[in-house]
Amino acid sequence: LTVSFISPFQLSPETLQEVSARLRKDLLRGLGKHSHHKAPVKMLPTFVRATPDGTEKGDFLALDLGGTNFRVLHVRVEEEAQKVLKMDSQICAIPQEMMLGTGEQLFDHIATCLGDFLESHNLKGQTLPLGFTFSFPCEQLEIDKSILIRWTKGFNCSGVEGKDVVQLLKEAIHRRGDYHIGSVAMVNDTVGTMMSCGYKDQSCEIGMIIGTGTNACYMEEIKNVKRIEGEDGRMCINTEWGGFGDDGCLDDILTEFDVEVDKTSINPGVHIFEKMISGMYLGEIVRLVLVKMTKDKLLFKGQISEALGTRGLFETKFISEIEDGLENAKKILTELGLDWSLVDASVVRLVCDTISSRSAYLCAAALATLVNRIRNNRKLGHLKTTVGVDGTVYRKHPTFSSKLQKAVRLLAPQCDITFLVSEDGSGKGAAMVTAVAQRPAHQSRLLEESDGEDNEEEEEEEGQ
Ligand code: GLC
Repeated sequence: LTVSFISPFQLSPETLQEVSARLRKDLLRGLGKHSHHKAPVKMLPTFVRATPDGTEKGDFLALDLGGTNFRVLHVRVEEEAQKVLKMDSQICAIPQEMMLGTGEQLFDHIATCLGDFLESHNLKGQTLPLGFTFSFPCEQLEIDKSILIRWTKGFNCSGVEGKDVVQLLKEAIHRRGDYHIGSVAMVNDTVGTMMSCGYKDQSCEIGMIIGTGTNACYMEEIKNVKRIEGEDGRMCINTEWGGFGDDGCLDDILTEFDVEVDKTSINPGVHIFEKMISGMYLGEIVRLVLVKMTKDKLLFKGQISEALGTRGLFETKFISEIEDGLENAKKILTELGLDWSLVDASVVRLVCDTISSRSAYLCAAALATLVNRIRNNRKLGHLKTTVGVDGTVYRKHPTFSSKLQKAVRLLAPQCDITFLVSEDGSGKGAAMVTAVAQRPAHQSRLLEESDGEDNEEEEEEEGQ
């Protein structure tokens, strides 16, 4: 009976290959000049054209919004020592009401946190360049012009979608009028992660996050990014793979529990792939399965506790703890007010393992798509590359990273991938992006949208 709950989450290698193949098509749709409007995987140009070359230097400010905490940082990049030093940083809580309030309140709060930080670190007189890690899908027009497409994860502030985030930040700073900032570079957390690892390992060309949300970026050939002028060189593309499945293409692998998690989320219908994978949702999937199993009298003598019956109270970190050992499982079940038996505790562990494994395997399928694409782009028989990774799920779960790595090896056998856990990608990475952006480079810009008929031919895959 337990098996009937578990098996819909168990994806065969063939299914994972199929998922990877579907994503491959969606990457093309996102890159296409005309098809990108409707593409669920947005493939956003980032205007980052190069990974670090080791000559970057200087002092930077960094803001980090969109992960577990909001932070302000002062970062120094030293050329001689090839080191990125975090001088100081400060966490600034963002209360839940603010995450769902007005954009003006949010940006005023950010400007206040930054102001307090500058004040307490004696930096107010300087005009330092600022890297803004803003971990949401943005249509980036230039490195310092970035329009929020939509909020994801726990945020839903009014009046920000469709607006330039840099402008909103500058306006908030202007309203205060007591300090100035230098040039601004907007950075997605995946890009920061790639860039911070890229300073250490120049073959790092992919950044991946598996934390509150999930996403990845990679270096794409500019000639394949049909919305960008120019033929030469590469640009980092923020895939926003969390949106994979938003057109229904993953419906056949969704379970009733995934459907429920989506329905009760603050953004139903969007970021379907993310909702099967990331930390914001995994605990809730487990909880829904446990509730259903209890109702079917397969657990806890059929008795649901108040905590187990409440949305959001089974935290994703419990999954890591429970899988880490049976003793932890017992402790957590007790804390959740459940009357458990030893068999119950083992079944709960099995449920956690099943759902976290599915997450790792789905990420592996998506990552395999990216490395296979890079290998095809370069017409290589074999690709050796490095992926910079960050995020609480990847870092904290006891077996997630090894499962993911093993599965990618199976799904992308011609690629040899090194995984590097990023050291504070959102802080130091933002400084790296800002530094690289200051390097003189040839300019490219987003092409004007033509009203032309949809011509998807150009997006056809060059046979693989
Ligand atoms: C969400 C955001 C994306 C971010 C990811 C990880 O998917 O849309 O921009 O990179 O979370 O934080």
